[in-house]
Amino acid sequence: MGLEVRQVGPGFAAEIGGIRLSGALSDAEIEELRQVWMENKVAILHDQHLSDQDLLAFTTRMGPLFVHVCSMFHSPEYPEIMFVSNLKEEGRPLGSLGDGDLGWHTDQCYTPRPCWATLLYGIEIPEDGGNTYFADLAAAYDRMPADLRKAAEGKRVVYSVLAETVSKKSPITAEQRARTPDVTQPLIRTHPYLGRKAIYASPNHYVQMEGMPKEEGDALFRRLAEWIGRDEFVYSHRWRVGDVVFWDNTSVVHRRDAFPPAQRRFLKRTGFQLPEELAVPF
Ligand code: OGA
Ligand code: MN
Repeated sequence: MGLEVRQVGPGFAAEIGGIRLSGALSDAEIEELRQVWMENKVAILHDQHLSDQDLLAFTTRMGPLFVHVCSMFHSPEYPEIMFVSNLKEEGRPLGSLGDGDLGWHTDQCYTPRPCWATLLYGIEIPEDGGNTYFADLAAAYDRMPADLRKAAEGKRVVYSVLAETVSKKSPITAEQRARTPDVTQPLIRTHPYLGRKAIYASPNHYVQMEGMPKEEGDALFRRLAEWIGRDEFVYSHRWRVGDVVFWDNTSVVHRRDAFPPAQRRFLKRTGFQLPEELAVPF
């Protein structure tokens, strides 16, 4: 198909041109896009015009649709589309995450089978702030100091949805909590298709290191969290209306800047999962 690929981050994150996600895409086109995306970890497509059906149709082509546990932020028509927004309707938040900042995390690592990819589609974008940052955790793994790598290798981490809801200031119901008990994940993860390793760590969801004294574990995780946030691993995305950005949660963490409450930000969010046999992190 001849995708136009231009890397915009340090060794990862690519703008991809020459493709309209609303169009009819062949299997070969989808596979070419998937390959470019996996190699670059974050795919950025500008000037897309997607109906909700287009958005869902494209996401479905990439993998089984993900449905977010926070049902209060689902689109009323389609539970597979979630709103990320600071807008309110009769005083009630229309979407998740409000206008505040959000620390480094990888999506749904507090579930046994985290969502592989998250996709955001920009509908309304504030003038100031609200940038999304991505850190390349395969590069962060490759360049890890030897002693840090030695300490991290083979370790597992306990994550909780509650840690996240505190940081996002959006409490969940008892029923939602009951569906998302704490889980442990490996700290180093092998990519399901590419076979290479990456750090897999989500500071926003962190509870403790498994099987380590609390203070020692916290100190190790803190050092790791500082390491992955270094500028050399980070791409900052400044949003434009019509942007579609999707990322590989096995390979990057992301965070977001705050923006002025008086400015409007409205994104539609979908996600797709790995096939069942590859879904559990290892
Ligand atoms: C998310 C998320 C960041 C943003 O939807 O998972 O982290 O920029 N969003 O809104
Ligand atoms: Mn997120």
